Amino acid sequence: MRIVLCGFGVVGQSLVKLFDSRSEDLYVKYGLKPRIVGVVDSKGSAVDPSGLEFNKLVEVKKKFGTVKNYANTKNAMSGIDILKNIEADVLIETTASNYKDAEPGMTHITTAMKKGLHVISVNKGPLALAFPSLMELATYNQVMLKFSGTVGGGTPILDYAKNSLSGERITAFSGILNGTTNYILSNMSTGLSFDEALKDAKDRGYVEADESLDLDGLDAAAKLVILANWIMGMKVTMPDINCTGIRKVSTEDIKKAAKNNCSVKLIASCNKELVVGPKEVSNDDPLCVNGTLNAIAFTSEHSGTQTIIGRGAGGMETASSILRDLLDIRQEIAKT
Ligand SMILES: NC(=O)c1ccc[n+]([C@@H]2O[C@H](COP(=O)([O-])OP(=O)(O)OC[C@H]3O[C@@H](n4cnc5c(N)ncnc54)[C@H](OP(=O)(O)O)[C@@H]3O)[C@@H](O)[C@H]2O)c1
Repeated sequence: MRIVLCGFGVVGQSLVKLFDSRSEDLYVKYGLKPRIVGVVDSKGSAVDPSGLEFNKLVEVKKKFGTVKNYANTKNAMSGIDILKNIEADVLIETTASNYKDAEPGMTHITTAMKKGLHVISVNKGPLALAFPSLMELATYNQVMLKFSGTVGGGTPILDYAKNSLSGERITAFSGILNGTTNYILSNMSTGLSFDEALKDAKDRGYVEADESLDLDGLDAAAKLVILANWIMGMKVTMPDINCTGIRKVSTEDIKKAAKNNCSVKLIASCNKELVVGPKEVSNDDPLCVNGTLNAIAFTSEHSGTQTIIGRGAGGMETASSILRDLLDIRQEIAKT
């Protein structure tokens, strides 16, 4: 399987390490031989139609801060150049999420689909801003668009709702979809102020470079958009979400909730309306998880409410969700 990998940060590098450590059993068990023909980061790229060496890519990135030093002739091809000029089967899009114009991910994805490549995206930006039209473009070009890692990292939230509950009608769902804000709110419940809890989360590397994505609820809203489209069949984008972050949650709010045996959580919910905002959740509710954990409760017509809990982020966790998508694509291709 010939792969173009756009973005070579935490997730991109974890994926290459995963390919390296699993190469034998992926071939024996699934007949999958991932061949990365192009990798691009913000400073340049590495290209080899016969396949780049996994180890060398990681070493070069570590030593020079960019993959463009992979070969002696430093490669200046952009992601779009690679997608247009190098033969490949799948684009794996792992550049940073942004909710203003979703670039560069949006153009990577649309260019790839128009050229007939299947796409796996862990980048939420393009899906949050244009889920319905990207799905249409995929259908029009007869390619698959997969995005398991966008919600829940390695915890298969989307697959669970779509496949394990298939045949059921999900009527509502609500969840904690952002681990960083959950970590901050959990720490506030032990007595820390918002500023102290934020500083601690920053020191641990949990907060996005643009803190607004976490604190103002944008990351949770993007995931809500993806869930609403994929699970509920809605055709919505970011502006359809009524979104409030956690900046105004005070120590008094946390204490008041505690008196009611509750905790304040940033809840993303789909029940008539699509809402992200701080809410009191009973400490006895399985949804009431602490630290960086994510949790989501699906309510369906005949199966009642079921809650999934897991780690919502992490390089290797997210890389494993990409591998899951890649194996799905491999299986679908084998059927045709
Ligand atoms: N980390 C997680 O746990 C996690 C979980 C689920 C989803 N995600 C999503 O997965 C994506 C990647 O996350 P990450 O943690 O790996 O982020 P990251 O470490 O910041 O990596 C982002 C990568 O994108 C590259 N990039 C930025 N602008 C670019 C451009 N114009 N052209 C080409 N490459 C460009 C960066 O290049 P440089 O290396 O040169 O800076 C970097 O390699 C994000 O969209 C994130 O929201 C992450």
